[in-house]
Amino acid sequence: MNSQPNEKNKTLGTQTSAQVAGEIVSENDAATTRVPFTLRSLLKMVRSGEKFACLTCYDATTARWLQTAGLHVLLVGDTAGEMILGLPNTMHTPLDFLIALTAGVKRGAPATLVMADMPFMSYQADDAEAIRNAGRFMTEGLADLVKIEVDRSFAGLVAKMSRAGIPVVAHIGSRPQHVKMHGGYYAAGKSAESAIALLDDARAMIEAGAMMLLIEAAPSEVAEQIVRESTVPVIGCGAGSSCHGQVVVLQDLLGMSTWQPAFALPTAQIGGQIIAAAKIWMDRVKSGQLGEHPYVMNDAQRASFGETLKYRNTAIPRVEPNQ
Ligand code: KIV
Repeated sequence: MNSQPNEKNKTLGTQTSAQVAGEIVSENDAATTRVPFTLRSLLKMVRSGEKFACLTCYDATTARWLQTAGLHVLLVGDTAGEMILGLPNTMHTPLDFLIALTAGVKRGAPATLVMADMPFMSYQADDAEAIRNAGRFMTEGLADLVKIEVDRSFAGLVAKMSRAGIPVVAHIGSRPQHVKMHGGYYAAGKSAESAIALLDDARAMIEAGAMMLLIEAAPSEVAEQIVRESTVPVIGCGAGSSCHGQVVVLQDLLGMSTWQPAFALPTAQIGGQIIAAAKIWMDRVKSGQLGEHPYVMNDAQRASFGETLKYRNTAIPRVEPNQ
């Protein structure tokens, strides 16, 4: 989609700030009062040259905070398998687990566009199964969009999913679900030949009906050319700043990962804050200074309790395991 940065906000110009999709109307209850940010809002933003921001998110609580921050898109990525379950890579992320997390994120951020990642083997084996699984993400998972890792050989599936009413985000470039095929993670489009192949993948996906592209780990000049040619929004993840939107893994950004890519440098040190908070809790437990105790007996009940204890046999008989 060709965007003109200088025409920023042109299409939103006549709206008041409270009417602008994605803006918080009342700070008291931001999660429920934000004007819904929809696919239409995102397209308007892109047309007016404004960049949109996306982060991964895997739970309702974090989703609520990210919505309050004004995030445009939340991706319930298959990286949840690594971040939440401690799995070695995204190939192991279970389908039902990801559908449940997607619904949680949408409940936490009902006014934010939620994109669900379809995990390994939920869409590759059979088109009909892929469409049913995508449908589950939309119905049970409350997703607004589904993302699949593809190349042009998936054009037929993307067309069928679009025909069924499923808005597809085509994830092209580096595909982490192919990690075993490459013997490790890899960048895409670094040779002239593979760059052209990536452009062809992008074109095939748009022609098949993809609503958006996501390019992972590719040189910026290749992404720039895709953005130039594209008629749909392009999200970058390590693809340079020309993309209409950007996504990174939230844990990387928050300083909770042991390693993060150079394009996702931490903007906070939440890992350090978790350690500090846990230490304060340990000190509180040790000293017994837990704060005010909220559960109290009235005087009459306390007296009655004391009286009863006088007549109670407080020695609890021990039952031996073999008896
Ligand atoms: O699963 C994920 O987190 C992703 C990206 C970071 C693009 O697909």
